[in-house]
Amino acid sequence: MKIGLLGGLSPRNFLRDYWQKKPLLVRGAVPGFQGLLTPGDLMDLACREDAQSRLIAQKNGKWQVRHGPFTLRSFSRLPKTQWALLVQDVNHFLPAARDLLLKFNFIPHSRLDDLMVSYAPSEGGVGPHFDSYDVFLLQGMGRRVWQISAQRDKQLVEGASIKILREFRAEQEWVLEPGDMLYLPPGYAHNGVAQDNCMTYSIGFRAPSYQELATQFLVYLQDHVEIKGMYGDPGIALQANPGRISAAMLDQAGAALEKIKWTRADVEHFIGAYLTEPKPHIFFVPPPDPLTEKKFIHQIKENGLQLDLKSRMLYGKKTIFLNGDAYTGGAIARRSLKMLADRLILSTAKHLNDEALALCYQWYLYGYIEIAGQPAGIGA
Ligand code: SIN
Ligand code: CO
Repeated sequence: MKIGLLGGLSPRNFLRDYWQKKPLLVRGAVPGFQGLLTPGDLMDLACREDAQSRLIAQKNGKWQVRHGPFTLRSFSRLPKTQWALLVQDVNHFLPAARDLLLKFNFIPHSRLDDLMVSYAPSEGGVGPHFDSYDVFLLQGMGRRVWQISAQRDKQLVEGASIKILREFRAEQEWVLEPGDMLYLPPGYAHNGVAQDNCMTYSIGFRAPSYQELATQFLVYLQDHVEIKGMYGDPGIALQANPGRISAAMLDQAGAALEKIKWTRADVEHFIGAYLTEPKPHIFFVPPPDPLTEKKFIHQIKENGLQLDLKSRMLYGKKTIFLNGDAYTGGAIARRSLKMLADRLILSTAKHLNDEALALCYQWYLYGYIEIAGQPAGIGA
C-alpha cells in the first residue's frame, strides 16, 4: 500500500505528472481519517443562513435539487436512500478544516476554493458529471464507489435541474474507504455513489475562466483608469445624413479608447483583490467587546494570532491582500504579514514591528483576524 497524502509521490512529482493532467487514486491518503464532523453536524450547518447547502435527490429517475438554508424537519422527511446533502465552505466553520486544507498547501492558496462536505445514505450521489475545478475527493465515514471517465462527450441531460452527463461511460471504478482519496483534474467525468451512509470531503481548487477574469478586470479598471481629454470636433464636416456615425467620430473614439493601458502592477492589484474578495454571502463579525490596542498586542505576543476562518489573505511583491483590500507598508511589516498569509496562524507576534501590529489591530476590529487559540467552532 502506498503511503502519504499523495501516495508516496513528492508534491513536486505530483504537480509535474498529475496536477491538471490525470487522476490519482491514493489509498490511505489520510490514515485513520473518519471525518471532521458527523452527519448531524452537517445538517446543522445546512440550516445556517451563512452556509451554502444543497439537497440533491433522485425521484423516479429524475434529479431534483433544493437549496438551503434548510430546517432540521426537512431532513426527517427524506427517503432512506438516493439523496445527498452538500455544504460548501465548511472550512469557514470548522478550525479542524483549516488543518486539513493546510495539508494541501503544496498548491498555492490563490487556487483554493473551499472544502465541501457531502453526506449521502446508501445509493446517494449527485449523478455523473464533470466539474471545472481540480478536486481532491477524500473519503470520510462509509464507503463510496467512484467511477471516472476521460470521455470527451460533455453533453448534459437537457432540462435537468443539475448538470448530469447524458451518456456516462465509466472507464475505471474503485470503492473508496475512509482515508482514501481521489484527485481529479478539471473536466474529468465522474460519478460517486454511496455504498452505505457516507461522507465525502471535496477539497476544491478554483480556476476562473478567462471571460470571468476579463469581466472583473474591466470592473477594476473603471476605478483605476484615467484618460484625459474630451471629444471635440471643431473641424466637423457637414453630414448629408445626420443619423450616421461618421468615420471621423469612430477614429477619435477609437484613439481615446486605445489610451486605456495597464501595468503588471495593475494586474497584481486586481488579481489580489479579486481572489481575496469574500463571496457575497460572507460577512465578518467584529469582536463584540474589543480589547484596547495595547491589550490586544500583549495578547497576540503571548498567544499568537490567526486569520478568521473566513478570511482570505494573499500577497504580491509589495502588497498584502486581505478580504478584497490591498495594504502596502514597509518591508519589515510586510515580511511578517506574508508569513501570516502563508501559515494562516502565527504562534507569536513578538517579531511583528509596530506597523504590522497596528495593521493587525485594525484587522482584529474588522473581524478578519483573532487571537490564536480562541474557540471558533461550528456554533461560533
Ligand atoms: C459529493 O461529494 O457527493 C460530490 C462530489 C463531486 O462529485 O464533486
Ligand atoms: Co464533482
